Order: sequence, then C-alpha cells, then structure tokens
Amino acid sequence: MNDFEFYSPTRFVFGRGVTDAVGQHVAELGYKRALLVYGGGSVVRTGTLARVKESLAKAGIEFVELSGVRPNPEVASVREGIAVARENDVDLVLPVGGGSTIDCAKAIAFGVFHDGDVWDFFAKKAVIEQALPLMCVLTIPAAGSEGSSSCVISNDSIDAKFGVNSDLIRPKVSFLDPELTFTLPAYQTAAGVTDMIAHICERFFSGTGSSEVTDNIATGIIRTLINQAPVAIAEPENYEARANIMWSGTLAHNDLAGCGLNAVPTSRAGGWESHALEHQLSAFDTSITHGAGLAVMMPAWMRFVWREDPNRFLAFADLVFGIEPVDETEEAVEDAVTAAIDELQAFFAELGMPTKLGEFGLKPENIDSFLATLKANKGEVFGGFKKITLEDARVIYESAF
Ligand code: NZQ
Ligand code: ZN
Repeated sequence: MNDFEFYSPTRFVFGRGVTDAVGQHVAELGYKRALLVYGGGSVVRTGTLARVKESLAKAGIEFVELSGVRPNPEVASVREGIAVARENDVDLVLPVGGGSTIDCAKAIAFGVFHDGDVWDFFAKKAVIEQALPLMCVLTIPAAGSEGSSSCVISNDSIDAKFGVNSDLIRPKVSFLDPELTFTLPAYQTAAGVTDMIAHICERFFSGTGSSEVTDNIATGIIRTLINQAPVAIAEPENYEARANIMWSGTLAHNDLAGCGLNAVPTSRAGGWESHALEHQLSAFDTSITHGAGLAVMMPAWMRFVWREDPNRFLAFADLVFGIEPVDETEEAVEDAVTAAIDELQAFFAELGMPTKLGEFGLKPENIDSFLATLKANKGEVFGGFKKITLEDARVIYESAF
C-alpha cells in the first residue's frame, strides 16, 4: 500500500427530495447570488430546474442562468458563462445536470478570475489559483464530477478535449436525489455505469501496487454496478437500483477507490490510459457519449497491456468475476485474464453499449486524427500500467475496429 493523501471536502446530501433543500443549504453557507448552469433541456422537461429555482426563491437567493450546455461541453459555453457571472457578480456557481454541465460550471468558476481566455488553463498556459464556490444538483450518475477535482472541456476549433484538475473545484455541496435519475434513457444509464467502472479500473490498474482494503472497495463497487445496472434499465423507477448506482458513481471517482495505489502521494492514482484514448473520440465526434467510447476503448486497452502484470489482472478477474486460472501455466493465466476481459465487455454490451468503433460511424482512416490530438494532449508517451507510445495507441485503436 503506497502513501497517499485523500481529500474529499464535499458535503454529499443524498436521498429523496433533497432537490428541494438546495436553497436552504445555499443560505446556510451565506451565498447570495447564484449562477444556475444547465444543459439542453432535460431539467426543464423533468421539472427539476423549477424545483431548484423555487427552493432558491424561498430562501431569498437571487439567481441568473446559463442554459444550453451540451454533452462534451464546449469552451464557448464556458466563455458565455464567465461573462454572465461577471456581469451579475455571482458568488456561487450552481450546475443542475450531469458531468458536462458541472464541468462547464467548474470552468466558469475559475475562468472568472482570469484576465485572458479560459482555454489558457486547458492549454497549460495558466494554473488554477482561485475559483468561485460550486454546489451541484446531479441528474445523471456517470462522470463523478460531483465529487471530483476534474474538469473536462472541448474546443471544437482544434478538435480538442482536455482536462484540468484542482482541489479548488471540488463542489462544496452536491445534492444526489436518485429519483431525478428515473427519467434517464437506458443508453445514458448504461454509459454512466461504464464510465464509473472505468474510473475504478483506471485506478486499480495504476501499475503502482495494490491495497487489500482499496481493492475490495473498488471491486465491491464494480460488483454492485454489475448487479444494479440491469435492474435500473429494466425498471427505470426502481429506487434502490438508482440509489446504489448514484452513490457508486461518486465513490468511483472521489479518489476513495484509489487510496494507496498512487505513484506520488499527492497525485491521483492511475495512468488514465483508457480515458486518454476515449477523449480523442469524443473530441473528434462530439456526438459520441464518453461512457460509450470507454466501453470500446477500455477492453481494447486491457487486451493490449495485461501481460505487463498478469497477476494484477488475475486479482481483478477473481475479485470481480470469481474467475481463477485452472493451473499456473501461461496458457491458464491467459485464459483466465481473457475470460475476465470478455466478461466485462459482454456486460457493457448487454447494457446496450457498443463493442467496436465502427458502431459510432468511425473509420480506421480517422485514427491519424485521434493520434494527433492524443499527442497534443498526452505527448509521445503516456500511461502508468504500461507506457503507451503513439504507435501502441495506433495498434489499440486498430484493434477496436
Ligand atoms: O443536456 P440535457 O438536456 O440535460 O440532457 C443530458 C445529456 O443529453 C441527459 N440527462 C442528464 N440528466 C438527465 C438526462 N436525461 C434525462 N433525465 C435526466 N435526469 O444526459 C445526457 C448526458 O449528460 P452529460 O452531462 O453529458 O453526462 P455525463 O455525466 O456522462 O458527463 C459526460 C462529460 O463528463 C466528462 C466527459 O468527458 C463528458 O464530457 N467527464 C468528466 C469527469 C470529471 N469532471 O470528473 C470525469 C469523466 O471521466 C469524464 O471525462
Ligand atoms: Zn470518465
């Protein structure tokens, strides 16, 4: 077990109806004027936005709005939000939605204090030193942004999707009301669950050790998701399934599932290879859902790297699926590891996720574009479990067609 620092300062307010308590919490913390941020309209249709506004009004909190944040949020929305935040002198940013909306809100929160363009932070020309406080109302469990230090933003003009990390953008309070997720389409539910499993796997396969307690927490969350996701898809209004999935999404990404697996105590565990491979897809075609891209890229990455440390993959196979090699021969180890990766991919497919990049309409000719943005994002070599060169990345992308 490696040394680590665990910092999760967010207050999570979880359960039925917590959406109606937003105003009260905002008032208790002394904020006066919020910037509400939301997406393409789901929160309007479901009535969630109206509930949040009513709750704010009751508590005497003023608010202004930024709407229309799209999935894979674009930097233009962030710029728009920064202008609204400045004009109205807001003291809180309050996204109501999923990872895309929350990430847009996070970028507004630190972009407000920057004299130059907010993309500077993503282009590594500026560092986050200050941010407005954030509170969020989560409507889709997936990205884990409600508890994470991450913020991922796209820039269509250069086909880029880059992330930044800072503890300053972890929300102060996150409201998790599982009933808000009853309206999620099966595809979004499935993509969200895939993303959660990927967040755990990126850390589990950090390449820098293991920890019994963390490994049990991590794989216990995956087993919960394997049990509960089919229930939520079959019965969208099953509260227990939705609640278990929602909390799993937070735990998968607030760094609990990585404690002791860090290479450097103060850094997040994991090399985040599958995420790096996926982000180039959803940057190239912004209609690609992040979790769906991961459903294809993560198994492809696993098949490419497992020989680097077969025992780590055997631990995963045993803890998640109860798969053990029949003996110690190389062949038996390969069979067991392959069976576990196959089973994981089959689970994603059963939920309705794609298994091949062609299903997104992507073509092998597009790989050069993925590699160009991957290089701009990660350099010539990246990864922790196994160092991945751009040529390796090409082989992994090819294997995913
Ligand atoms: O835009 P609206 O109309 O609200 O619809 C959304 C959107 O189309 C819809 N939706 C959300 N809640 C709903 C609902 N539909 C019906 N009922 C509800 N209750 O779902 C769609 C997807 O929303 P989005 O916010 O894009 O989903 P998600 O939470 O998966 O976020 C994905 C983004 O987060 C980034 C991804 O790369 C992607 O850009 N990530 C952020 C991370 C972080 N900040 O820590 C980590 C992740 O690895 C990830 O990279
Ligand atoms: Zn993710």
